[in-house]
Amino acid sequence: MTPRNPYRTLSGTSRLAGVMGWPVSHSKSPRLQGYWLAKYGVDGSYMPLPVAPENFADALKSLKNLGFSGVNVTIPHKENTLAHCDQLSDRAKRIGAVNTVTFSEDGLILGDNTDGFGFIENLRQNAPDTAFASGPAVVLGAGGACRAILVALLDEGCPEIRLTNRTRKRAEDLATEINDPRIKIVDWPIEPAALSDASLVVNTTSLGMVGQPKLEIDLAGLPQTALVTDIVYAPLMTDLLCQAHDRGNLVVDGLGMLLHQARPGFHRWFGIDPEVTQDLRDFVLSSD
Ligand code: ATR
Repeated sequence: MTPRNPYRTLSGTSRLAGVMGWPVSHSKSPRLQGYWLAKYGVDGSYMPLPVAPENFADALKSLKNLGFSGVNVTIPHKENTLAHCDQLSDRAKRIGAVNTVTFSEDGLILGDNTDGFGFIENLRQNAPDTAFASGPAVVLGAGGACRAILVALLDEGCPEIRLTNRTRKRAEDLATEINDPRIKIVDWPIEPAALSDASLVVNTTSLGMVGQPKLEIDLAGLPQTALVTDIVYAPLMTDLLCQAHDRGNLVVDGLGMLLHQARPGFHRWFGIDPEVTQDLRDFVLSSD
């Protein structure tokens, strides 16, 4: 059948969204959201929006005034966006950062953070038997991505989180801010004893990423039933995941977190809860 709109032109009622970042050229969001727009035949567009920090407040307001449905915000705007929203979701407040903005019909700027949602949904999809409440989690790192993951794990009923970071003070500050007694700071590098009864290990540092040093970790004490995951997705199979896989642990790579965190925005702006499929993974990873 010939498509009714083979040129994929926009109409006068197209819904508009995009991603604000500085720089934004590396962002995979336009490719990801563009895939779903085409797949579901949505009359809409999602564009990269390079916005320097000094222009951020004006740009956000302008997008609202231009009739955009919403935007993703990425580095370096995620924390700064909080102050420019009229309403924040509970999780955005607790994470202290916004990645998904919706402009409501009554003119309000609504801020949400879907990074933790993306993290959990990735594990649910790829390791459906994961029971977050079943045992301690070991979390490596204390940066922005880590904060969203800690909040999400606590919300899923994780009984204890052992948090470790090269700069201990940063982990301590994060634990103080989140203020939940289930977060315990442990030594970096992680001691085998801290892994001996863990049911989940998460790397939220940039170690293992292309061009970064490798994450040195001894998994010898980790139960084989533990799930191991990494937020790094370039490469997909990091040294951590290879090591865990080789000793029999179930592993989940980090690409799914990126894909799932995008679902709530697409749903709100374009009206469809989109699917994360193998074909989408392949498309987002390719560059043609
Ligand atoms: P993001 O906001 O994306 O999480 P970030 O705030 O730069 O990024 O955090 C990067 C994380 O990787 C931090 O936990 C950082 O540890 P420090 O807080 O000690 O800087 C960790 N990291 C980066 N390079 C590292 C290295 N060479 N060794 C150990 N940890 C490293």
